[in-house]
Amino acid sequence: MKLWGGRFQEETALEVEAFTASIPFDKKLYREDIAGSIAHAQMLAANGIISEDDAAQIKDGLLKILTSIENGEFTFSIGLEDIHMNIESALTEAIGDAGKRLHTARSRNDQVALDMHLYMRRAIVETGEALLALLKTLKEVATDYQDVILPGYTHLQRAQPILLAQHLMAYFHMLARDFRRLEGCWQSADIMPLGAGALAGTTYPTQPEMVRDALGFKALYANSMDAVSDRDYLLEYLAMASIAMMHLSRLSEEIILWASSEYRFIELSDAFTTGSSIMPQKKNPDVSELVRGKTGRVYGHFIALATVMKGLPLAYNKDLQEDKEGVFDTVATLGFALRVYADMLRSMKVNRERMRAVLDDDFSNATDMADYLAKRGVPFREAHAIVGKAVHYCIENNKVLTDLTLSEFKTWSPAFDEDILDAISIEACIAARDTHGGTAPARVARQLEGAAKLLAVYEKIQAERAEKATLPLA
Ligand code: ARG
Repeated sequence: MKLWGGRFQEETALEVEAFTASIPFDKKLYREDIAGSIAHAQMLAANGIISEDDAAQIKDGLLKILTSIENGEFTFSIGLEDIHMNIESALTEAIGDAGKRLHTARSRNDQVALDMHLYMRRAIVETGEALLALLKTLKEVATDYQDVILPGYTHLQRAQPILLAQHLMAYFHMLARDFRRLEGCWQSADIMPLGAGALAGTTYPTQPEMVRDALGFKALYANSMDAVSDRDYLLEYLAMASIAMMHLSRLSEEIILWASSEYRFIELSDAFTTGSSIMPQKKNPDVSELVRGKTGRVYGHFIALATVMKGLPLAYNKDLQEDKEGVFDTVATLGFALRVYADMLRSMKVNRERMRAVLDDDFSNATDMADYLAKRGVPFREAHAIVGKAVHYCIENNKVLTDLTLSEFKTWSPAFDEDILDAISIEACIAARDTHGGTAPARVARQLEGAAKLLAVYEKIQAERAEKATLPLA
């Protein structure tokens, strides 16, 4: 019989069992469910709601179930619907009446909310770790290639020269913001819902503060109806993950372009590329393409849960069971993408000659030529027009700006002097952008120092969270 079967005369239809069961995916929560139940039983005993002996038997029985699940010896049953009832049934089977007292002063509604809060703290730790590994890699690769120069683009048209380190550090800062966003996710996940009961609180003299402290939560929900139906903390994670995937997807697009024969800026290692079944010459950037593709799937999970939530009346509705698969998949997908990216970037070869060579053959120094004139008193708008004419002339005559002679320069403005060629060398263009956040080598070096400090702070936050998320399961 079902744990809730008392008022029913007929068996549940098989297809309804299959349709409503969450055990195929929520069995992932067994550790959280067991830790939560032990804390609950101990609180019940401490407040005289069940006996100390019952609580001890419950704890012992649950820890045995934990071992049997981890050894792959536990049989999960669809008929028992979800992880909560699978474990509770097994407990009662093992220890009898004490097991039947575990669900006193609790509902599956606050129970599943507790499990998901615990799970989310663990997920945040896992994501934080993968983010930190990629942040470190980006900083290391940027440091290794500090003197490599390549064209910077706007509209995918060559714009101004930049350091490769500047380009890579832009991604460092994006992903650092993702790590910072995890803090908001953590704050929202670090609230303890058990004690809300089905929706309205419970009639027993419970002490949710005890469960909060036993599981290392910071706070309690102030409202029982909110406690059982809040899924904001999951949406916040999905939003954070969507943004992080978007960052990785942008990086992917650049890696794909850079690895193409047209660019030839980088070569990905064989270990991180795949071949074609028909074209023997191919070496495809599949990892980047898949990360770009999987971004769509993560966005989908955010939209799916936001849509599940939008019409829900208070408090628990079965719709809420739909919160799990998308979140689990997002945690796995984002973690995978972050980790594979760190390894791939570390093993990629940078073709510095090629990056530099394309700059010798274009007009990425045109802004600097205009700045040269403006610094000699020509109004910038006029200087812009003059350089525009020079560029046009060069295109017509198959030249670049540094091919021009001083007398050619002088035909456009008397303000040009001998030092113009030095002023528009690629190295000078880079060095001249010596402003806050700019690409001048000294500024980039300062960014790298700042990044090292930021990483030290993040490492500490990460270690603190990892400790808090560790379940008391001994
Ligand atoms: N499996 C359910 C879920 O994930 C657990 C809560 C069920 N509560 C209920 N009243 N049916 O949401």
